[in-house]
Amino acid sequence: MSNITLPLSELYAPIADEMRMVQTRFDAELDSDQAFVEDLLDRVRHFRGKMLRPALLLLTGKACGRLTDDHVTLAAVVEMVHVATLVHDDVLDGADMRRRSPTINAIVGNVQAVLLGDFLISHAFHLCSSLDSQYASRLIGATTNTVCEGELMQNHHRGDASMSEALYLDIIGRKTASLTAAACQLGARFAGADDATTSAARRFGYAAGLAFQIVDDVLDVVGAPDQMGKSLGRDFDLGKPTLPVLHCLAHCALDVRFELQSALSQQPGSVNGQLKAWLASTDSVSYAMDYANQRVADAVEALSALPPGDARSSLSAMAEFVTHRRW
Ligand code: IPE
Ligand code: IPE
Ligand code: MG
Ligand code: MG
Repeated sequence: MSNITLPLSELYAPIADEMRMVQTRFDAELDSDQAFVEDLLDRVRHFRGKMLRPALLLLTGKACGRLTDDHVTLAAVVEMVHVATLVHDDVLDGADMRRRSPTINAIVGNVQAVLLGDFLISHAFHLCSSLDSQYASRLIGATTNTVCEGELMQNHHRGDASMSEALYLDIIGRKTASLTAAACQLGARFAGADDATTSAARRFGYAAGLAFQIVDDVLDVVGAPDQMGKSLGRDFDLGKPTLPVLHCLAHCALDVRFELQSALSQQPGSVNGQLKAWLASTDSVSYAMDYANQRVADAVEALSALPPGDARSSLSAMAEFVTHRRW
């Protein structure tokens, strides 16, 4: 069977025990003496996502050396940071579904969702500070600085139909790839990898993260909400220029460009049917997917600096999963 058709659980086989430990640590770390907070945390604990960032951290660690208890802690930390960004992101996007379940903002409103996101990020830093080394706290802190900048930039450039591809890549690099890069960097460093190997691991995580967000942006238009388990179509509705839309703007007929520009800047509500037809007229989904596949190739290339074995093979398959996923 080709790697790309394997379920994630098989890609995670080399780290199956540690992934269970990560879930236990994640769950144990999030607690509150307030019953209504516990109710929300129960949802966070119950509706798990793909756990890609913990898996990247652990597989990189395993590929580079021996996994330690610090890896388990850090894997829980990166997932907590990720979940915090999702809780905030669903407020920003006005999304009502996440992980096949109502979003926190749909259940308790925007104010409580923002505060729960803060609670999660605070717990992530608290857990991270339990490690002896300051390396991880510094890197996680630098990464969340960057993620926040990415989100600020994205919001600042809403409706900007003249955005360059370079700026789009800068934004998704900050908001998404910086965290996957940090996960891989931490995995390698805490397994004792040297500087060259650690930086190759980081390059792998960054390239895979770029591909992941480009595909996510494509699936926001062409994905199936039931399969994805989250609200779709929000990017265009909220005026976020994504790679397929930017490509279409640069290559479509003049009348389409005019309609596309005004739809993007005036946040018209869903024009999803029309958007798909516009993107099809310029083959812009294929363009974006080709671009994502090139980033996967960059990621796989960076992996050649890591020692070969089961864990490295799983990392390579995870990079391929990114462009073949439907959820
Ligand atoms: C969603 O990430 C947010 C993006 C960066 C696009 P995931 O698709 O990894 O979310 P979960 O953790 O599986 O729900
Ligand atoms: C992910 O962007 C933003 C984060 C890094 C949290 P999206 O807005 O595309 O994420 P989804 O599609 O809602 O999961
Ligand atoms: Mg969103
Ligand atoms: Mg998205």
